[in-house]
Amino acid sequence: MIYDNWIPASTVDVVAWCVYVLAAVLFVMGLHYMNSPKTARKGNFVSAAGMVIAVAMAFVKLFIDGNFSKTALVLLVAGIVVGAVAGVVSAKKVKMTDMPQLVSVFNTVGGGAAALVALNDILAGEGSPSLVVLITAGLGVMIGSVTFTGSLVAAGKLQGIKWVKKLRLPGKSVWNILFIVLTVAAFIMLCVQPEHRALWSILTTVFALCYGLVFVIPIGGADMPVVISVLNACTGTAVAMSGLAIDNVALIVAGALVGAAGVTLSVLMSKAMNRPLMSVLAGGFGGANAAGGDAEGPEGTMKETSADDLAVQLVYADKVIFVPGFGLAQAQAQRELADLGELLKEHGVEVEYAIHPVAGRMPGHMNVLLAEANVPYDELIDLDDINPQFPSANVSLVVGANDVTNPAARKPGTPVSGMPILDVDKSQNVVVMKRGRGKGYAGIENELYFEDNTQMLFGDAKASLQAVIAAVKELLA
Ligand code: TAP
Repeated sequence: MIYDNWIPASTVDVVAWCVYVLAAVLFVMGLHYMNSPKTARKGNFVSAAGMVIAVAMAFVKLFIDGNFSKTALVLLVAGIVVGAVAGVVSAKKVKMTDMPQLVSVFNTVGGGAAALVALNDILAGEGSPSLVVLITAGLGVMIGSVTFTGSLVAAGKLQGIKWVKKLRLPGKSVWNILFIVLTVAAFIMLCVQPEHRALWSILTTVFALCYGLVFVIPIGGADMPVVISVLNACTGTAVAMSGLAIDNVALIVAGALVGAAGVTLSVLMSKAMNRPLMSVLAGGFGGANAAGGDAEGPEGTMKETSADDLAVQLVYADKVIFVPGFGLAQAQAQRELADLGELLKEHGVEVEYAIHPVAGRMPGHMNVLLAEANVPYDELIDLDDINPQFPSANVSLVVGANDVTNPAARKPGTPVSGMPILDVDKSQNVVVMKRGRGKGYAGIENELYFEDNTQMLFGDAKASLQAVIAAVKELLA
């Protein structure tokens, strides 16, 4: 254990420690670079380099220690090849809008792997493991198993798989409490009765897997972003616990960093969403229509407009606020939106972009998208700063944003209740670009579309923006 031999004896151990510390430094540097979209790409490369070094060192150390059979070697190499190919192919092929599902699948795999490593540490070997190993490995099994099933359900919901979105859990609080109590009880028994560790560790795993399911099934609506980041924190913590159990410094550091970053993000997201973190975890928000329900919406008619009419409104405006959402990402229309912004600015119109913290499907989604289109950072205005500006906006142009603009959030009893929204409805005129009457992620109709000052421009956001740009150019020619 690292606790017993804090200063490693052999040269290999010293070299391994130095390499792991180097990897840890690269992870921290990578995280630091990810603070800004400008350096985020570099941050990814630096962190990936740290991970390559750590994995290579673990492999070399295992080889030098001679701690494995030929079968294990074949399995290890096969695992590395299959994992690397799957990682590269999925990262290259997946669309930007599907990235959250991919992250959830990675969380599933990470949590499951951490649980298996910890389980192996409890069960392998002749004598009883020490209490420290039982506690750290037991926590790894527990948290990793919850993450495995929880992230699997989250990935299904994000992917929009119908039967997953339709899953309901009557009496959710009872199931939640039941499986928390059973999991913790089995974990405690594992620590006090190490002679029966096979029974207790397997029961801990099974109960924790069930808890992962009952934890995520009832959650939806506006709470999914918080849950995804909590599961991310769980993956990191499970990995760190497994690292402690098997004495791997790289795993401990990488896991602790992911865990700490995930917890920080969860707290920030729940604050931004006005959701008490504990209520989200207890499935206290969301509700029957959460994540794709079929709630009946407000009655009324929507007024349609055309690209030509919108162009006139924009050209004669003093101030325009763009409100991007998931539909912008789906349409990949960020460059068109930035081009329209430039055209209007050249004409003397003040243009700003309203950024909601959970617009899109991942934290910072709109920032990344608009940075890709070279929109200046100082034009991206956060929710708290942009909301007081809507009344002075002649036109607010909503491009594929739905839930984050829904005034229903100000009323109780809806899947978005309590979520801070962009006060688009307070603008002098609102034009919404979307393809049709599709609902947002929370599965409810948007009252904004029926307001007197709102007009709809139906169609794919990219095509609509191209038509508006052409019309604006014609007007300004
Ligand atoms: P949504 O509420 O998901 O609405 C997106 C809208 O875009 C839809 O109503 C859709 O209507 C429209 N759309 C789709 N494709 C389009 C296209 N090609 N062209 C034009 N419009 C298109 O988006 P939002 O307002 O950004 O809200 C985000 C939601 O996702 C929130 O509920 C949030 O809680 C949830 N969520 C966020 C995250 C993070 S971390 N950001 C993670 C998970 C879930 P049509 O089908 O009619 O076109």
